Amino acid sequence: MKHSISGKTRVCGIIGDPIEHTMSPAIHNAAFAKMGLDYVYIAFRVKPEELDKAIKGVRALNMRGLSVTIPHKVAVLKLLDKLDPLAEKIGAVNTIVNDDGVLTGYNTDATGFLQAMLERGVEPKGKNIAILGAGGASRAVSFILADRGANLVILNRRLELDWAVELARRISQAFNRKVEALELTRDNLIKALEKAEILVNATSVGMSPNSNETPVPSDLLRPGLIVYDIVYNPVKTKLLRDAEAAGAEIISGVDMLVWQGVMAFEKWTGKKPPVELMKKEAIKQL
Ligand code: ATR
Repeated sequence: MKHSISGKTRVCGIIGDPIEHTMSPAIHNAAFAKMGLDYVYIAFRVKPEELDKAIKGVRALNMRGLSVTIPHKVAVLKLLDKLDPLAEKIGAVNTIVNDDGVLTGYNTDATGFLQAMLERGVEPKGKNIAILGAGGASRAVSFILADRGANLVILNRRLELDWAVELARRISQAFNRKVEALELTRDNLIKALEKAEILVNATSVGMSPNSNETPVPSDLLRPGLIVYDIVYNPVKTKLLRDAEAAGAEIISGVDMLVWQGVMAFEKWTGKKPPVELMKKEAIKQL
């Protein structure tokens, strides 16, 4: 269905800096058009020092909602009226819904990450999961997995800076369960993977242009292990290629990217979008 802009068109968008390479406008506009919804989605480059004005602008222009990306996911929290409890626990927001001037923040990075697993029939509840990385992406992933009832071990390169230790402590407190933090070394990987049914890469290792790098030596991968890489560019990272070759099951970061968009779309429109079309559009952009 062809979409034309009218006086009733609802406006959504994404704010970030840089933003030029975002795939979200293509993904969302393709879904709006396919469903014949009178919505449009636009990318806005917003500098950190202008974030508060941008958020005021959402209210002033009566925009329907926003996606939020780097570097605004944490700073935007205090500018909103309401927070979804999980977004509040994570301390980061990637989706804003505007209901007549009342802005609510959600974290669909986290819920989208989980949904992509569940869609594949992978249930994290009660599973031992090794998570690589302790940055922003790892926070969202670790919190939702703990919330779902998984047992976590977080491995990070720089343990001396206590990122992983701090993250593990906060998750332990929030969900009253034990979370281990280890330095990302070969020995610790061996130890963690002996127990783990699922491995999640939440570092940026392997991201284009470094697509021949991997955070896990290929000899540590095995059949039956589920390997989920949150890196989506390339769609199949070296980690996923190695995992596949070792007989492991793989989930690409593209699935997380698409599902965070799907869940934002549902919040703005109240409708279920065409997931496969959105995925095709994302892959086309890569
Ligand atoms: P994001 O928002 O994508 O999570 P981030 O907050 O900068 O970005 O976190 C990046 C993560 O990737 C961190 O856990 C980082 O480890 P450090 O805390 O030691 O920096 C991890 N990372 C990045 N490059 C890495 C590399 N070459 N080897 C191992 N870990 C790496």
